Amino acid sequence: MNRKQFFDKMAAQWDSFFPASFLERLEKEIIPLLGIKKADKILDVGSGTGIILPLLKKAAGKTGEVTAMDFSGRMLKKAEEKYGAAFKYVRANAKKTPFKSKSFDIVICFSVFPHFVDKLNTLKELKRILKPGGRLVIAHADSRETINNHHRKVGTIVAKDLIPDDKKMQSLLNKAGYTPQEIKNTPTHYLIRGRRINN
Ligand SMILES: C[S@@+](CC[C@H](N)C(=O)[O-])C[C@H]1O[C@@H](n2cnc3c(N)ncnc32)[C@H](O)[C@@H]1O
Repeated sequence: MNRKQFFDKMAAQWDSFFPASFLERLEKEIIPLLGIKKADKILDVGSGTGIILPLLKKAAGKTGEVTAMDFSGRMLKKAEEKYGAAFKYVRANAKKTPFKSKSFDIVICFSVFPHFVDKLNTLKELKRILKPGGRLVIAHADSRETINNHHRKVGTIVAKDLIPDDKKMQSLLNKAGYTPQEIKNTPTHYLIRGRRINN
């Protein structure tokens, strides 16, 4: 089973993993850390069934625009069933997206980065579709250790899908052409904010 098949299989039950209290915590504690601005054009990479899509839209306001992207067709279908025309839905692998260069103000990778097989080239691709000065955000609602242990425990195809240590992350971000602004690992969240520095 590959990763796409793994997540396709999870799609039907995905929303049941997130109680209302978790979604409230996301809205109050995590979304404000992402640095979303009004009218931002946002890409939610690995959007899954879209648990953060409405929160992103709320943060970006009426003139904001949110696109959900995932390589799992079943995850995206669930999102579209819930939200319809409120968002755009694009099925693609983050390593090679169909978007024009310099399309987005902010690219959000929420609970997905460890699953990227080729992390450097994926970061480069996400930089390509960011506008100059655009922001990359990698976020999790748990610490790096909790996320990594969770993947080890789940096992199978995701057992080695880990968040690298800070030194490795810094190096990946530099090589991909971002200026890291923040790499933060706390008991309640993991957060990276970076900027596209060159044209
Ligand atoms: C752990 S889930 C998180 C989903 C969603 N962000 C959430 O918090 O509920 C990871 C999602 O990323 C998607 N994904 C993993 N690797 C991907 C890749 N290389 N390109 C696009 N989507 C990917 C999976 O299909 C899955 O829906």
